[in-house]
Amino acid sequence: MKATVDEGLCIGCELCVDICPRVFEMQDDGFSHVMVEPIPSEQQDCVIEAEDSCPVTAISVEEPP
Ligand code: F3S
Repeated sequence: MKATVDEGLCIGCELCVDICPRVFEMQDDGFSHVMVEPIPSEQQDCVIEAEDSCPVTAISVEEPP
């Protein structure tokens, strides 16, 4: 699994960082960034929760084919 944050959409609400702090991290640009790739299996549930919770749907999750 791979996750990305669209910086054109992210408003820096930090919800994803609260939900999944081992994967998402706020950086100096004011946007959340994905810190690990691929997403470890034990982090996949919270990544999906973050994707569902982001108020501007800035998080995309890709499953490998
Ligand atoms: Fe940005 Fe959404 Fe996270 S707005 S900080 S990607 S919850």
